[in-house]
Amino acid sequence: MHQALTILGSGYTARYVLPLAEQHYALVFATSRDPDQHLVDVKPEQRIRFDLTQPETWQLIPPTTDLLWCFPAIPIELVQQFADTVLLRTRRLVVLASTSAYDDGLSTEYPPPWVDETASIDASKPRVQGEELLRTSCGAIILRVSGIYGPHRSPLHWIQTGRVARSRKFVNLIHVEDLAATSLAALRHGQEGTIYNVSDGTPRTWEEICQTVEQRWAVRSSVSREPQSMGKRIANQRMRELLKADGVSLRYEDLYHALHGIQEASVNEAAPSR
Ligand SMILES: NC(=O)c1ccc[n+]([C@@H]2O[C@H](COP(=O)([O-])OP(=O)(O)OC[C@H]3O[C@@H](n4cnc5c(N)ncnc54)[C@H](OP(=O)(O)O)[C@@H]3O)[C@@H](O)[C@H]2O)c1
Repeated sequence: MHQALTILGSGYTARYVLPLAEQHYALVFATSRDPDQHLVDVKPEQRIRFDLTQPETWQLIPPTTDLLWCFPAIPIELVQQFADTVLLRTRRLVVLASTSAYDDGLSTEYPPPWVDETASIDASKPRVQGEELLRTSCGAIILRVSGIYGPHRSPLHWIQTGRVARSRKFVNLIHVEDLAATSLAALRHGQEGTIYNVSDGTPRTWEEICQTVEQRWAVRSSVSREPQSMGKRIANQRMRELLKADGVSLRYEDLYHALHGIQEASVNEAAPSR
């Protein structure tokens, strides 16, 4: 069993990482800018107040624990100072990044080409700069994460509320439980300074998702009026190998199967208990 892990930024994903991490680490800590309000489900002894923009909170991060960084690594000056202060170079560090790092709209090919970890990135984005700093100077393992969905974050809801609409644009998704498992696998087996794309491996168009959702769950969608980019198709071979090294595999390769489970759970939650 590894010694200890600190989850920096405990929002949606961290909620799923924490119970999994407790199976592999003797101690797991979770940080928040407001732990008394945001970490009520976490035992008080595991809560840490931490805000990247408040350097006086940095000393509250326990020394030598592994770290999982779960919020955008900006601004770069603070990222650099924080890295030096808490000796990130000497720790195992995994950073949740985003597939939005990859240059978008460069190709007019349709369907768009597959994007693996060697594809070019948009280094003008502050977040990408922060991630690259952590990768190149601290050996951070970078997970470039696709759209995260799961319980209480369902694409069905995004369609219903018009947040997304029918279009030919490709979207790449990952279930939060698979992201949590990948984060743990990266902490245990990821290669320092390496990038891993995180996606379920089946890019789909919003057109296809909306149609299927309408047929199966009678959820009506709207047609996108905005000009859309073609999106990307994210390749996940490296991530699959990482999961294999950890003795696991993707649980939610089929989006519709996953959505079925999320819908069932939300109906059960809403039902009055007898
Ligand atoms: N949502 C997506 O579809 C998606 C897709 C690709 C990548 N990502 C990235 O993946 C990561 C995890 O996503 P998520 O949805 O689980 O994130 P999330 O729910 O927003 O959780 C991150 C938490 O970090 C804390 N935080 C924010 N700024 C901070 C700062 N300056 N200093 C310290 N803590 C800070 C916040 O908690 P407190 O308010 O309690 O401090 C926040 O709830 C994020 O970096 C996100 O950008 C997300």
